[in-house]
Amino acid sequence: MDEIGELRRTCYCNDIKDKQIGEMVTVMGWVDRIRDLGNLTFVDIRDRTGIVQVVISSDKKNGLHGKIKQLRSEYVVSVSGPLIERDAETYNPSLPTGKVEVAVEDIKILNTSLTPPFPMDSEISTSEETRLKYRFLDLRRNNLQRNMELRHRVTMEIRKELDENHFLEIETPILNKSTPEGARDYLVPSRVQKGSFYALPQSPQLFKQLLMVASFDRYFQIARCFRDEDLRADRQPEFTQVDIEMSFVQPEEIFELIENLLKKVFRLIGQEIETPFPRFSYDEVMNRFGTDRPDTRFGLELQDVSDCFKTTPFQVFRNIVADGGFIKGIVAPEGESYSRKEIDDLTAFVRLYGATGLVWIKSTDEGIKSSLPKIVPAEELESAAREVGLKPGQSCLLIAGKSKTVHESLSALRLHLAKKHNLIPPGKCNFLWVRDFPLLEWDEEDNRWIATHHPFTSPRDEDLDLLSTDPGKVKAKAYDVVLNGLEIGGGSIRIHRNSVQKKVFKALGIESEEAENRFGFLLRALRYGAPPHGGIALGLDRLIMMLAGEKSIRSVIAFPKTARAIDLMCEAPSEVDEKQLRELHIKIRE
Ligand code: AMO
Repeated sequence: MDEIGELRRTCYCNDIKDKQIGEMVTVMGWVDRIRDLGNLTFVDIRDRTGIVQVVISSDKKNGLHGKIKQLRSEYVVSVSGPLIERDAETYNPSLPTGKVEVAVEDIKILNTSLTPPFPMDSEISTSEETRLKYRFLDLRRNNLQRNMELRHRVTMEIRKELDENHFLEIETPILNKSTPEGARDYLVPSRVQKGSFYALPQSPQLFKQLLMVASFDRYFQIARCFRDEDLRADRQPEFTQVDIEMSFVQPEEIFELIENLLKKVFRLIGQEIETPFPRFSYDEVMNRFGTDRPDTRFGLELQDVSDCFKTTPFQVFRNIVADGGFIKGIVAPEGESYSRKEIDDLTAFVRLYGATGLVWIKSTDEGIKSSLPKIVPAEELESAAREVGLKPGQSCLLIAGKSKTVHESLSALRLHLAKKHNLIPPGKCNFLWVRDFPLLEWDEEDNRWIATHHPFTSPRDEDLDLLSTDPGKVKAKAYDVVLNGLEIGGGSIRIHRNSVQKKVFKALGIESEEAENRFGFLLRALRYGAPPHGGIALGLDRLIMMLAGEKSIRSVIAFPKTARAIDLMCEAPSEVDEKQLRELHIKIRE
C-alpha cells in the first residue's frame, strides 16, 4: 500500500472536461470496475461526482501492471497521468466523461477493501436490512449520493430564502420539558436530578412561540424532532422540520411565504410549480375526498347518496342514515366489468379500514343492477345512480356506516382504484392548503377532547364562546400544506392571550394546577406582552423524498432507522452497563 504523501487531487472525476485533453490530471477515489483485456486494463475510478475511466497498457515497462493486478473493487486509489481522447468507437455516451480517459503513469493504492456485501450500482436487489447495516457503503451508491446532495441544496436554498426575508435562524434546546404534539416522548434521565427526566423535542413549538414574545418577529430553524410513534414509510423517530414562526401575521402571509419557498425549492429540480395553491376547508376535503390530505391528481371523488336511502325498506341503510351515518360511494371507471373476485378483493381491502362491507350499483344494458338485497326498490337505485351520474360501463362502489369509517375506507379505496386503473399522471405536483380544521377531536379511548393540531393553536375568534358549550364545533386557525396526498407541513395561528390559553387547556381537561405545572413558563410569557403570532413547520425529509421521487424518507436520510426504530448499523438502541444505570438512578423492571 502507498501513502498519499504530498500528492494532491487536481480534479473530481466528473469535472474532467474534454478541453483538458493533454493535461496531467490526478484523480482520487474508489475502484468501481476493472476490465482486463490482456494488453490493456481499464479501470473505472469513482468519487462523489461520478466516474472516469483510466487505462493501463501492459507494454509499459513501468511496473504498473503488477499494481493493477492487485486492484479489487472498492480499493482506494490515486491515479495520475495525461488525459487522452478515447478512440471514437469506444466513446461511452452514458458517462459525462465518456469521450476521455486517463493514461495512467502513476497509481497509488491508498487503502484496500473487503469485498462489499453488495455492488455499488444504482439498482440492486439486496435487502434493505443488509443495506442499512452497511449504510456507509449503501451511501456510496449513486442514487443516495444524489439524494444527499439534493438535500444539501434544498437546505441551503431554504436558508438563503428565509435569510433574505429577514428570518433569524435560532437554535432551541434538545433537552427539554415535554411538549405534547400527539406522540410519545423520548425521555432522557437526569443524573444530577434524581428521578427527573428531560424530553427530547417533538418540535420546537413552545420555544419558537417564546422567541416571538422575545420580539424576534421572524424565526426559523432546520430543527431535529423526536417522536416515539408507529413508523411508516413517511415517518421516522427522528426527523427534520423547517420550523418557522412569525409575529403580527395572518395565515395568508404564511401561505405566500411557503408557496414562494416551495417554488424556489422545486426550481432546483427544474420544476416550475403553480402558485397560489388551491385552498380548501377541512369540511370540504373530508366531504369530497374522505381525508384531510387529499391527492387531487385524479378524480374519483366521494359521492353522498345517503338521502336516496333515507326511507328505504332496507333496514341496515335506513338505520345508518337515521343515526347520522352516511352512505357514500365512488364511481369506478370500468367497474361494470369487475369480476366477482375483484369485488371480493375490494371488499377485503375496505374491511382493513373498518368498513363492514362494500356494495355496488352498476349501469348495464338492462338497466341499473346492484348487489343490494332485492327489497331495495328500483327507484332508489335509479335515484342513487342519477345522484352519482353513473354512466354505462361504470359501477358505483358504496360504503355505509359512521362518518369516520366511511371516509377512511373510501379515501383508501379511492387511492387503490386510482392505482388499479392507472389514473395518476406521472410527474404531476398537486399542492393544496387545508384550513379551518376542528380545534378538538374526541378521543374514544380516553373519553376526552384532544387537540387536533396542538394545544397552543388559536380557535377562530367567532368560535370562542363555543369552547364551553359545544367544543366539537370550534374551528381552529390551523392549516396543512399537502402535496399529492402527503402532508408536507402544518401550522397555525397561536393563542397569544393567557386567558384564551387557559380556556383551551380547560376544554382539554387540563386543570389550572396541571396547566401551571406543565406550561407555567408559557402562561407566564403570555402575560408579558405576547404579540399575535403564528407559524408552520415543513417536514423536510418528506419534502426531499417528493423532490427526489423516492417512496420512503429513509432514502433521503443519511442514517435512518428501521420501522422498529432500530439503527442496524450502530445497533442502537442497546443495553447499557449497570454502572451507567446506577448513576442515572434507574432500575430495569422485569
Ligand atoms: P406537525 O406535527 O404537523 O406540526 O409536524 C410538521 C410536519 O413535520 C412532518 N412530520 C414528520 N416527518 C417525518 N417523520 C415524522 N415522524 C413526522 N412527524 C411529522 C410532517 C408534518 O406536516 N409544531 C408544529 C408545527 C407548527 O404548528 O408550526 C408541528 O410539529 O410533514
